Amino acid sequence: MHFFTICLIVCCSMALSWASDWGYPDLDNNQDEPFPKWGGICDSGKKQSPINLHAKGALKGEFDALKFENYNEYQKNLQMINNGHTIQLSGFNHELTLSGGALLNDFVVEQVHMHWWSEHTINEIRYPLEVHIVHRNTIYPNMTMAANFKDGIVVIGVLYHVSNTPNEAIGRIIKNLGAVKSYDSINQPALVADSLAVGDLVPSVESYFTYAGSLTTPSCAEAVTWIVLTETFPVTLDQVNEFKEIESAAGKQLHNNYRELQSENNRAVVLVEQPEDRSGAAGLTASVSLIFTLILAGQKFLM
Ligand SMILES: *[C@@H]1O[C@H](CO)[C@@H](O)[C@H](O)[C@H]1NC(C)=O
Ligand SMILES: [Zn+2]
Repeated sequence: MHFFTICLIVCCSMALSWASDWGYPDLDNNQDEPFPKWGGICDSGKKQSPINLHAKGALKGEFDALKFENYNEYQKNLQMINNGHTIQLSGFNHELTLSGGALLNDFVVEQVHMHWWSEHTINEIRYPLEVHIVHRNTIYPNMTMAANFKDGIVVIGVLYHVSNTPNEAIGRIIKNLGAVKSYDSINQPALVADSLAVGDLVPSVESYFTYAGSLTTPSCAEAVTWIVLTETFPVTLDQVNEFKEIESAAGKQLHNNYRELQSENNRAVVLVEQPEDRSGAAGLTASVSLIFTLILAGQKFLM
C-alpha cells in the first residue's frame, strides 16, 4: 500500500515534469539528436502536423476567396512573451476576422508566433522561418474549448525564404526581443513598442495548401485547419539568428523550434490556386471589343 502510494506520487510528478519540460533537440549542437516523444496524441494521433506539402500529391481545390477583415489595422497594444518554446504575440483586436475559402464560420486572431526553421516543408524544402497566425472559431468561447473540436482552430502558416533584403515586419518584432530574450523574463509579457499589422506578415493568399492537422506543440490537439501559403516572404539569415538567441532555460539558447515531419496518413491535402480572374477577363473582353469597334469605325470612316 505504502509502496503503491509512493509509486503513484513519483510517477505523477515524473509525468508532470515531463509534460512541462517538453522541448526540441538542439540541432545546432548535434544534428543527430533525435526529436523527443511528447506523449499522448502527439505520438498516437493520425492527423498530426507538420507534414511535407507538394503540389504533385495534392488535390486541386477551388473555393471562394479567403476574406480578411481588419488585418491591415495597426495593433497598438500587443504583448510579446518568450514562453520557452517560441516568441508569441497576443492582445489582438478581436475583430481581426478570417472567413471564406472552405471555412464554415468566422475565425478571429488569437496569437501569432514563429518557428525557426520552418515546420512545414514544400517539395521537401525547409525554409528558415515559419510564422503561425492562430485563429479561434468564434462559435467557441476560448482556445481551450476550441482545441476540443476539429473545426476549432485555423492556423495560417507563412514561410519565409532566405534573402539579402531584411523583412521590415519581422524587423519590427525583432526590435522588441531584447525585453523577453533572457530566461529570467520567461512567460513575462512585454508591451510591443512598434505597432504591427497582421497583414504585414501575410503575402498573397491566392494560392495555398490546406489540410486537417494538429497543433505542432503539446497537446498536439487535432483541431487545426491548416492554411499554408505557397507564396513566401523574404527574410535575412541575420534576422533569423536573432530568434535563435532566445533562452529556453538558464544560459540555453533555443537554436531551433520546429517539430519533425509527421505521417500524412492518406489525408487529403488540397492545393487551392486563384481561379481565373473573371473581372480581369471581362475587362479584357471589353477592351478587345472596344478595339474591334474602333477598327470597324475606322473602316467605316475610310469608306
Ligand atoms: C473556456 O470556456 C469554458 C466554457 O465557457 C469555461 O468553462 C472555461 O473556464 C474557459 N477556459 C478558459 C481558460 O478561459
Ligand atoms: Zn506554431
